[in-house]
Amino acid sequence: MAKQLRSVGIAGLGMYVPERVLTNRDLETLVDTTDDWIVTRTGIRERRIAGEHEATSDLAFPAAREALQRAGVAPDGGDLDLIIVATCTGDMQSFPATASLLQERLGTRRAAAFDVAAVCSGFVYAMEVGAQFIATGAYENVLVVGAETMSRVLDWSDRSTCILFGDGAGAVVLRACPEGEGILGSVLGSDGSGAALLNVPAGGSRRPLTPALIEQKQQYLMMKGREVFRFAVEIMGEAAVQALDKAGLTPGDVDLFIPHQANTRIIDAAAKRLGLAPDKVFVNVDRYGNTSAASIPMALYEAWRDGRIRPGDVVVTVGFGAGLSWGASVIRWGDVTWTP
Ligand code: ACO
Repeated sequence: MAKQLRSVGIAGLGMYVPERVLTNRDLETLVDTTDDWIVTRTGIRERRIAGEHEATSDLAFPAAREALQRAGVAPDGGDLDLIIVATCTGDMQSFPATASLLQERLGTRRAAAFDVAAVCSGFVYAMEVGAQFIATGAYENVLVVGAETMSRVLDWSDRSTCILFGDGAGAVVLRACPEGEGILGSVLGSDGSGAALLNVPAGGSRRPLTPALIEQKQQYLMMKGREVFRFAVEIMGEAAVQALDKAGLTPGDVDLFIPHQANTRIIDAAAKRLGLAPDKVFVNVDRYGNTSAASIPMALYEAWRDGRIRPGDVVVTVGFGAGLSWGASVIRWGDVTWTP
């Protein structure tokens, strides 16, 4: 007989951003750009940048600690079963996983730990992976963190990319919840034929770093912006509708849409396709830029903190990014209320 799967919901949230704010005006002194160009094309006004000695696990740690505290899970008490970190800017080039480094910082000896590499879709992927362990009854408490130091993989002389990204971290604790709550439906997808549109060309096994490649700045993010833009607009609406369909819902049932925070033009176009009014769409890209895998948990956290999500609400998150990859989740919010 097939085993009954458990419903999985969010039991606690946390967020952390580095202190340093880099405004569009600051960028005007670095590259040939203007505040007006950046705001008009992207909606971004400022972003946070990690300090010289701050790595991705340093951003992940306070976000994770807050999420665990809010979920009532003592990291060193043996109740945390698994730590998943979604990141494309891990502390180390190859290994160990940033999740292992975070585990050490949290003082959690028993928890399993691994990273998920799906770039800006990473958090949705990681949440879906973590949810499977709880749904089957294998684990009780899973910590899922999206954390990035995108500033480390940017070419700060390339105006077409350096203006877009920022650093930060967001975290959730997943746990079994009453039926009808939590993650109601989700989709994950990828299309590797688009790998050349967005990548870091060198530093992996295909092209190990050499002085010549460093000279050519091949260790930095490169992107064909227009193509990624077209893909993003299309996939955001499509993935959201597919996930809603799996949950037996339609766009009309959505209380809050929390898209990957890459660009307000992409967000507006996706919301229009879904027929969502602006008050049903959460945007904080203006203050943080594109923080890749951290963007959705950071937006989820701020929406929750600001009272935009209430128990019973239907929340839809959609991520897209390099791979190409995408993922969407439909969540019915449980009894997790904000306390300062
Ligand atoms: N300031 C001023 N001018 C600029 C800047 C800048 N910062 N950047 C580019 N330009 C210029 C270009 O050189 C070009 O000039 P030209 O016409 O003389 O050649 C002109 O502006 C137009 O450039 P486009 O690239 O066509 O501008 P576009 O309107 O497409 O906007 C943007 C660029 C904002 C990057 C857009 O394409 C976009 O948002 N794409 C999606 C990016 C995205 O979401 N990426 C994240 C994916 S998530 C992940 O996995 C990491």
